[in-house]
Amino acid sequence: MDLCTAKHAFITGGASGLGLGMADAFLKRGINVTIADIDAEALAAVTASRGNNVRGALLDVRNREQWAKAKAEAEAACGPVDILCCNAGISPNGREFADMTLESFDIILAINLGGVVNGIFAFAADFRERGRGHIVVTSSQAGLITTVGGVGAYSVAKFGVTALGEQLRREMAPHGVGVSVLCPGYVQTNLGTNTVKIGGDVRQYSAAMPESTIGAADVGEMVADGVAQDAAYIITHKDVWRGVEKRMLGIKAACDYRLEN
Ligand SMILES: NC(=O)c1ccc[n+]([C@@H]2O[C@H](COP(=O)([O-])OP(=O)(O)OC[C@H]3O[C@@H](n4cnc5c(N)ncnc54)[C@H](O)[C@@H]3O)[C@@H](O)[C@H]2O)c1
Repeated sequence: MDLCTAKHAFITGGASGLGLGMADAFLKRGINVTIADIDAEALAAVTASRGNNVRGALLDVRNREQWAKAKAEAEAACGPVDILCCNAGISPNGREFADMTLESFDIILAINLGGVVNGIFAFAADFRERGRGHIVVTSSQAGLITTVGGVGAYSVAKFGVTALGEQLRREMAPHGVGVSVLCPGYVQTNLGTNTVKIGGDVRQYSAAMPESTIGAADVGEMVADGVAQDAAYIITHKDVWRGVEKRMLGIKAACDYRLEN
């Protein structure tokens, strides 16, 4: 999408981390931003510090009625949304499947996948009707490959987001609407702290994390560029290819075996 024609971006989980990086990148390009977040305090602080082109919307992405209200109020204030970023999420719980509670699995799925689904249900038909706009769904490297034990529930949700984004891109392309799947590698944010704040279960999450070389502002710029380029995937850490290739080669080997047997 030509960002010069975009007037309004709506970003969930925009009061912190990657979502805030996206908000700043769009604001820098003269686009009005609605930041939607569950954290009222963070929302107030962020909107107060960023001038008149940003407004806050209190939203729990799990709640479909709140989505309808947040959308109606955002569009009444700033006009139709041109860019939707379904980004709100919580961290992996650090537990292997055999050790985690169903509640812990459910909250990860409800926010990380269900929250994106709800956003698509709230906005996609309007985007298609208007025949313009761009949707970014935040997946993860863990939505392209499975990694270490303890990230399993998160990976289930993020693979779901990747599938949703890929399918939506296919369905929306004939109508002039772009869709990108954002797959970040590790970036230092408040993900662990915020997850605990809203009642998520996180075991030794922060201690296990390496230094991140890419910041949230960098990711925001990559997202703005990805929207401008109508990128199918926005990859922040190119090393992920090694794991993706290994996964694909495993699938290819199974196909070759079927051909031969
Ligand atoms: N930071 C990373 O290394 C990384 C890597 C891959 C993917 N991601 C994904 O990026 C997205 C953003 O995470 P982040 O790292 O910026 O974390 P963050 O905690 O800094 O920001 C996430 C924001 O989402 C909000 N949020 C959480 N639950 C919500 C809900 N139910 N409704 C509305 N808002 C809610 C939080 O209040 C917070 O402001 C998440 O989807 C996360 O899974 C992050």
